Amino acid sequence: MKILFIGDIVGSIGRDTVAEYLPKLKKKYKPTVTIINGENAASGRGITEKIYKGFLELGANAVTLGNHGFDNRDIFEFIEDAKYLVRPANFPNGTPGTGMVYVKSNNDLVAVINLQGRTFMGQDLGDPFKKADELIEEARKKTSLIFVDFHAETTSEKQAMGWHLDGRVTAVVGTHTHVQTSDNRILPGGTAYLTDSGMTGPYDAVLGMEKEAVLRRFKTQLPTRFEVPKSGRALLSGCLVTFDATTGRASKIDRILINEDHPFYE
Ligand SMILES: [Fe+2]
Repeated sequence: MKILFIGDIVGSIGRDTVAEYLPKLKKKYKPTVTIINGENAASGRGITEKIYKGFLELGANAVTLGNHGFDNRDIFEFIEDAKYLVRPANFPNGTPGTGMVYVKSNNDLVAVINLQGRTFMGQDLGDPFKKADELIEEARKKTSLIFVDFHAETTSEKQAMGWHLDGRVTAVVGTHTHVQTSDNRILPGGTAYLTDSGMTGPYDAVLGMEKEAVLRRFKTQLPTRFEVPKSGRALLSGCLVTFDATTGRASKIDRILINEDHPFYE
């Protein structure tokens, strides 16, 4: 069985790129489940109902979020009805939405969990390690196939989460930094791990934002509004996890990176 994960979709270029490549990736890799991180999908900030539904129509089975998940107010209108939208589980009690959803694929059930890190994230959240333990205990009553999107800034917090969950989940894949790491591996307990899957959106930018504005802030130290470029070259980042449907143990995790420097071959 295979899970295809596509990392942080940023703005319209990100949405167009996933629309262009998802059918091709599905044809090539035949994933059983497809998960997209969509927290930056609406102009780099949050997600709308139309975008969420568009991802499902493209073939995503679940859409995960992160620290920008609630940036677009639209979300409060539809999150409670969005069955396959997953926001970080360690947000305070009473936060709308859910931190874990179940996706059915043939006869198999896959639990999809979203957690957010606490280091350099600027939000006062609950302990993601403890929350992971609670959710995994709950999920394992139904399935041993568990996918975790850990949305966090530091490589150390993400690696720590990988070790914390090794042998208890199928995969721990990091999001948020928008830069893909090359440390994809199978941990000794059978958990697939990747520190960051990278982003999908503008290629000639800084983490998906117009490079000129980011440079201006670095050079002048003055407040600058960041916008997502509306045109230009694109990249798509993600990964493919191969695992045993009975045990939930992963055997392989491959990175996916598509841009003009790394062309896609069908
Ligand atoms: Fe983020």
